[in-house]
Amino acid sequence: MRHLISPLDFTVEELDRLLDLAGDIESHPEKYAHACAGKKLATLFYEPSTRTRLSHEAAMLNLGGSVLGFSSADSSSAAKGESVADTIRMISCYADICAMRHPKEGAALVACEHSSIPVINAGDGGHQHPTQTLTDLLTIRSLKGRLDHMKIGLCGDLKFGRTVHSLINALVRYPGIEFVLISPEELRLPSYIRHDVLDKNNIPYEEVVRLEDALPELDLLYMTRVQKERFFNEEDYVRMKDFYILDAKKMAHAGPDMLVLHPLPRVNEISVEVDKDPRAAYFKQVQYGVYVRMALILTLLEIEV
Ligand code: NCD
Repeated sequence: MRHLISPLDFTVEELDRLLDLAGDIESHPEKYAHACAGKKLATLFYEPSTRTRLSHEAAMLNLGGSVLGFSSADSSSAAKGESVADTIRMISCYADICAMRHPKEGAALVACEHSSIPVINAGDGGHQHPTQTLTDLLTIRSLKGRLDHMKIGLCGDLKFGRTVHSLINALVRYPGIEFVLISPEELRLPSYIRHDVLDKNNIPYEEVVRLEDALPELDLLYMTRVQKERFFNEEDYVRMKDFYILDAKKMAHAGPDMLVLHPLPRVNEISVEVDKDPRAAYFKQVQYGVYVRMALILTLLEIEV
């Protein structure tokens, strides 16, 4: 049985197949409308979510399956002190596959060790968010036509942003990838990723503070929100939260084909005036997230259409 805990759980070839499947789902949704009839997806969300929970649910419903679950720790037995290990044993009796988001790093890994159904990590603390990465890869491949030979700017909260951590892990496996890490000093990419992932794989990268300087040379800009919930004090968050604001004036420094991605939710880091810029791809990204999660559910359940 397979789980998705880290983006590296799939080889590059397996990822290619998954993205191809997502592409076929986009072109022929009717072919897949009953593929999961009789199957149930459980969504176990111990942390707030809009897109990730609802896109997993929409994906299962689009496949003709059903969904059950909870959307906050308070409304589950976690509030009574039940462990993740015990909860997943129960859920294995109720559903065929589950997606889990938890504030603790490693929670999904613990879950999969006690589960008899496939577990999808829908975000574990500041660690990883592999289904967002699948979404990002499908978006980039669909809109850019490739996943290699690109200069990618990652901007914002690179310290706590799990979407960035997962995306870096996935992208270093493609040739010709370079990163520009754009963050305030206090929100730099953790050294375990800089050293163990970037340096180990000989990936060229530079760290800069000013977004304007980086923009002209980027093929892609991945903006992120400052992760309020992971700060130890409100004061630091308030000081950092508006450090970057991408607006039309800054977009004028970027090339005509530079895509802007954002996992969402956006707070202030992209001004709404950028939404109408043809290079803004963050709402398209949301739609790709449904196709790729449909492909993921089919793959983990080993259902062939
Ligand atoms: C991201 C997350 O939860 O890490 N959101 C999402 O799933 N699309 C990004 C964020 O919350 O900033």
